[in-house]
Amino acid sequence: MTEEINRRRTFAIISHPDAGKTTLTEKLLLFGGGIRAAGAVKSNKITRTTTSDFMEIEKQRGISVATAVMSFEYGGKLINILDTPGHRDFAEDTYRTLSAVDSVILVVDSVKGVEEQTERLMQVCRMRKTPVMIFVNKLDREGKPAMELADELENKLDIAVRPLTWPIGVGQSFKGVYNLHEQNVTLFQSAKSTVEEEDERLRIDSLDDERLDTRLGSLADQLREDVDLIEGVYDDFSTGDYLEARVAPVFFGSALNNFGVRELLDTFVDISPPPRRREATTRDVDPDEDTFSGFVFKIHANLDPRHRDRIAFLRVCSGRFQKDKQFRHVRLGKKLRFSSPYSFMARRKEVIDDAFPGDVVGLYDRGDLRIGDTLTEGEELQFQGIPNFSPEIFKEVIATDPMRSKQLEKGLTHLVEEGLAQLFIQDKGRRKIVGTVGELQFEVIQYRLINEYGASARFEPLGFVRATWITADDKDELNRFIRYRDRQIAYDLHRNPVYFAESEWMLRSMMEKYPGIRFHFSSELDSDMSQYELGAMHARG
Ligand code: G4P
Repeated sequence: MTEEINRRRTFAIISHPDAGKTTLTEKLLLFGGGIRAAGAVKSNKITRTTTSDFMEIEKQRGISVATAVMSFEYGGKLINILDTPGHRDFAEDTYRTLSAVDSVILVVDSVKGVEEQTERLMQVCRMRKTPVMIFVNKLDREGKPAMELADELENKLDIAVRPLTWPIGVGQSFKGVYNLHEQNVTLFQSAKSTVEEEDERLRIDSLDDERLDTRLGSLADQLREDVDLIEGVYDDFSTGDYLEARVAPVFFGSALNNFGVRELLDTFVDISPPPRRREATTRDVDPDEDTFSGFVFKIHANLDPRHRDRIAFLRVCSGRFQKDKQFRHVRLGKKLRFSSPYSFMARRKEVIDDAFPGDVVGLYDRGDLRIGDTLTEGEELQFQGIPNFSPEIFKEVIATDPMRSKQLEKGLTHLVEEGLAQLFIQDKGRRKIVGTVGELQFEVIQYRLINEYGASARFEPLGFVRATWITADDKDELNRFIRYRDRQIAYDLHRNPVYFAESEWMLRSMMEKYPGIRFHFSSELDSDMSQYELGAMHARG
């Protein structure tokens, strides 16, 4: 058991769209032998923001849900990559996937630098203390100077960084990378089609080696200067600090040219964390405990109307998951048994007999499972860290066909359970408010309500820009606030009160005016809104 746990590495690759997540995933799979040729990983990227485009991708994904998890073996480790949607409107899906991983590889485009979505994703990693490795991609293009990028990473991502490789030249004059740890130079060859074609490695004992000048010309002196500077500026790299999420090692390369990827992967299997201890309501759970526990972090609906089953993705946290064994569904207090759980080895979906901590299992579900649900062998515990995050776009749901209000109710409930949107209900008038991160989600909801549930609804825009969960030590004060602001208060599905702000300014002034009230960025109430840069919020409306 310990051996099985220790050889697992479960992580996600995150990036701003177009930075190279899909390309890097593909290259990692090539190294692991998970796929043979380039081009095999289908991008699930939603490039155009039209509903039909999205639905088409979802349908394809429904057929090959394997894209949700990709597993392969490399260097004696079993690696599970959890896929995350790149599209901004589906950021919540990514946040939730981050709850199921033990570490993260962040891809940054060297031309664009750190982009907005990357900053937000990094906030979530920081909140969870998830160890992060950074891959600066597209060095074959005329990007920003490496020093500038390193500073930008540190400042915008708010984490100390430590370069472990360093680029020699950039764009047209990109010559390769220097491995600061092993002290060798790997020379760049563009457009290799297989991973077997090794890059040429120049083994040097010291940077004074004359071969550097012969091979790199004037860039050799530049490299010497850079390395001097780096060794002076940065502390020695400490694996412990990386595991504690205090420092992020940085690698430079070009995923498209399959360059610098091996360095990243080798270091990853070497130092990234195996499945870790997890927080639950009653206690912390260690992966090597005898009894099984796990939680659902993603639900994928089958969009084929003839097969209305859903697939729930469960992360195993402790013990052994077994086929046909009876488990306890903690929220419903119900016993469940799964006769055909499957895994995603080498992108093939196959039915499995068992799974270990760190693994992700696909479970057919007929409506029992919801995002965040915990399964155990009987113990009453609920995993934490799968919260809802503060949405930004709000619309009131108005039934347009009163005869079909039941269908509407059912459809909405299902879509909310899948995590497509959040639903809030106001006490006054029982107004139903749907909150999302993006407009595209509303189009998808509307489309699916009609096509799958035969329910029609109108969505009336509301003038709010943020929803924040509210708490206070003094219950009377909280109740007073709720009474005063009842037009801006609604409740989530667990009856937690939520304050809806009409503007960033309004939220700020409420925070000042009511110091006894705490405004939270996520439903688990562990993060004060004030910790987040309000300026970075999308001031819509
Ligand atoms: P994403 O999943 O993060 O959204 O990014 P993806 O891998 O799809 O990459 C986005 C674009 O950047 C793709 O080009 C891809 O080929 C290109 N790219 C990825 N890595 C590198 C690199 O190291 N160097 C250069 N120059 N380009 C890179 P595209 O034109 O959008 O798509 P495609 O038609 O080439 O696939």
